[in-house]
Amino acid sequence: MPTDPSDGTISWGELAREVADALIVSGVEGAQRQGQWIVMRACGAEDTAEWAAMADQPATVRGVAAVDRMTRRRADGEPLQYVLGEWSFRRLDLFVDQRVLIPRPETEVVAGLALAELHRLAPRGAAVLAADLGTGSGAIGLSLAAEHDGAEVWLTDASSAALEVARANIAGLGRPGTRVRVAAGSWFEALPPELAGQFGVIVSNPPYVAHGDEIDPVVAAWEPASALYAGPDGTEHLTHLVEEAPAWLAAAGALVLELAPAQAEVVADRARSCFTDVAVEPDLTGRPRAVVARHPRHPRPR
Ligand SMILES: C[S@@+](CC[C@H](N)C(=O)[O-])C[C@H]1O[C@@H](n2cnc3c(N)ncnc32)[C@H](O)[C@@H]1O
Repeated sequence: MPTDPSDGTISWGELAREVADALIVSGVEGAQRQGQWIVMRACGAEDTAEWAAMADQPATVRGVAAVDRMTRRRADGEPLQYVLGEWSFRRLDLFVDQRVLIPRPETEVVAGLALAELHRLAPRGAAVLAADLGTGSGAIGLSLAAEHDGAEVWLTDASSAALEVARANIAGLGRPGTRVRVAAGSWFEALPPELAGQFGVIVSNPPYVAHGDEIDPVVAAWEPASALYAGPDGTEHLTHLVEEAPAWLAAAGALVLELAPAQAEVVADRARSCFTDVAVEPDLTGRPRAVVARHPRHPRPR
């Protein structure tokens, strides 16, 4: 752990090197980079330019104490994102803690697909209604509000703890946050019934791990199980969303779903019976990662 700062002589840069050493001893990969991020968080440096300007300045006693706490948590195996309490997603810096899934790079792609649908339906910032079901930190839905000027976005989740995090992130969004609403409940049950048939885009990254499937032990140990596991098959929530979405979408609307690569064809097939235009889209590594289903067939009256 970092040196006792009582002589007041340690600089932020030296502190970062001590954190890196402590993380190396604990077997943390990328210890140097992570040590720097931990100290940047404590000293308030927003980017590498600010860090370069601060690295030679003496660390504050309070800052060293914060670094010490974060270093212990990281050395104990807690993911860096929770330790820092924030993570970037597309254009946003989101507050995250153990109440929500850590937003993933593949989900940035899914948010991009949902945005493309919003721009197709409502070019030049025209008004359009969107929902991010199972919003967690709010990553997808808040990106829609931030990147489409006309998007009115509903964020929903079955977890009231997750929604507290999403609300904190709405507060940090500034003006686009005024176009965001929050509702608690299971999938479509959270939405006001009078909005049925009115959504341009419904997007979701639901839990899609099958019970009993092996996942990264760090993910299993630290991230909320309710954000990860679906049911015996893994596609239970995905199928439910495909079947229920048509009743909530406008005629030209789209459902955008994140899924595991092995689930893409099964879910796309199911979607073809509920939508006229269905595509499977890849993630940044080229693996099938999302289904985009446009033009719902036979929306069931509610
Ligand atoms: C995989 S996480 C996705 C979180 C966030 N959208 C993201 O992409 O980072 C799934 C989310 O769905 C929520 N969830 C699980 N079951 C749900 C249900 N029946 N209805 C609504 N949300 C649910 C979880 O609480 C969790 O926040």
